Amino acid sequence: MWTGESSKAPATDNRVEAGGRTVLPGFVDSHSHLVFAGDRTEEFNARMSGRAYSAGGIRTTVAATRAAGDAELEANLVRFLDEALRQGTTTFETKSGYGLTVGDEARALRLAARHTDEVTYLGAHIVAPEYARDPAAYVALVTGEMLDACAPHARWIDVFCEKGAFDGDQARAVLTAGKAKGLHPRVHANQLSYGPGVQLAVELDAASADHCTHLTDADVDALAAGNTVATLLPGAEFSTRADWPDARRLLDAGVTVALSTDCNPGSSFTSSVPFCVALAVRDMGMTPDEAVWSATAGGAAALRRTDIGRLTPGAYADLALLDAPSHVHLAYRPGVPLVAGCGGGAYARCEPRGRPRTARRGGPSADRPWRTSVTP
Ligand code: NIG
Ligand code: FE
Repeated sequence: MWTGESSKAPATDNRVEAGGRTVLPGFVDSHSHLVFAGDRTEEFNARMSGRAYSAGGIRTTVAATRAAGDAELEANLVRFLDEALRQGTTTFETKSGYGLTVGDEARALRLAARHTDEVTYLGAHIVAPEYARDPAAYVALVTGEMLDACAPHARWIDVFCEKGAFDGDQARAVLTAGKAKGLHPRVHANQLSYGPGVQLAVELDAASADHCTHLTDADVDALAAGNTVATLLPGAEFSTRADWPDARRLLDAGVTVALSTDCNPGSSFTSSVPFCVALAVRDMGMTPDEAVWSATAGGAAALRRTDIGRLTPGAYADLALLDAPSHVHLAYRPGVPLVAGCGGGAYARCEPRGRPRTARRGGPSADRPWRTSVTP
C-alpha cells in the first residue's frame, strides 16, 4: 500500500475502491479489561438512581470471574473483541485484575495473550477479598509469587492507585517490582480523586497514566515535562456520572493525550472508540481532529508503538473505512454505526494462534486481506 496523492499512486494489483468514504488508521484501544465473567447491571441501575461508584464493585466481578471456566472467559473476550473490531478497533490492550489469586491472574493473562501482544498484569486492581485485613500481605503476593507466575504472559504492569485500592507507596512497590521483572509500567491514576498516581507514573517512566480525571497543576506540569501519555477514558465518566477529564487543559499544556474505552463491566461497559471520540469532542474540549488523533496515534503512543495508529511508510496498514465523507462525522453523527469495515495487521496478529483467519463482516476477506505494510 502507498499513501499520498492519488494522481501519484504507483500501479498496483490490489485495489479497494473506497468510493469517497473516509479511510482512517484503525483505532488503538490502549486500555480495556476484557477477561471477566458476569455483568453489573444492577450496580449500574443503582448508580443511575443516585448511588456513587466505588472501587469496591470490582469484587463482584472477581467472584464471577473466578467461578468461570476458561472456555467461558475466552468466549466473552472474543465476543467483546469482535464487537470492538466492528467499531473500528484494530489493536487493543487488555488486562488481568478480576482474578486476584496467583492461578486466576495467570490464567487471565494466558487467555489474553492468545489474542493480543498488549497484555497487562493488574494483580493490583484491588486488594483481594481474602487479604482485606492484611493489604501488605496482598502487596507482597502481587510483587512476589503472583508476579513470577504472571510476568511470562504480560508486557505491562498496572496498578489502581486510588483511595479504596492502592496508595502511592503500595503502587510504587508494585510497579518497581514489575520493572525489575522486565514489565513496563502503566498506571490507573487520579480517576476518582486527586492523588499521587500521575506523578508516580511520570517518575517511573510509565507509558501511560490512565484516567487523569482529577489533576492538580503540578500533575499537568509533570505530564508535560515527562514521557508519559495521559490516556483519557470518557466511557468511565459517562457510566459513573462523574465530571469529565479536561482534555483541553492537557493539550494546551503540551501533554500527549490518548483516548480509549476502558471497556469493563463496572465503570465503562462500552467497546466503542467512536462513542469515546464523540464524548471527548462534545464534553472534554477536544476538536474532532484531536480526538481522532488521540484514538489512533495517541493510543499507539500509550503503548510505545510507532507501527500502528497512523498510515505512513513502515506502519501496518490497519485501516478503518468509515461510511462518511470525513472523520468529523464520528462526533457529528454520534451513535451511528459508521465503520463500514476494518482490518489489518494488528488484529491479524491478535488472532488466537492456530486459528485460521476468517472473513470478517464488511472487512477484508481471507483472500484479500489489508495486512500489508505501508511502503513509501
Ligand atoms: O478503569 N479503575 C479501575 N478499574 C476499572 C474499573 C473496574 C470495575 O469497576 O470493575 C476502571 O474504571
Ligand atoms: Fe481501567
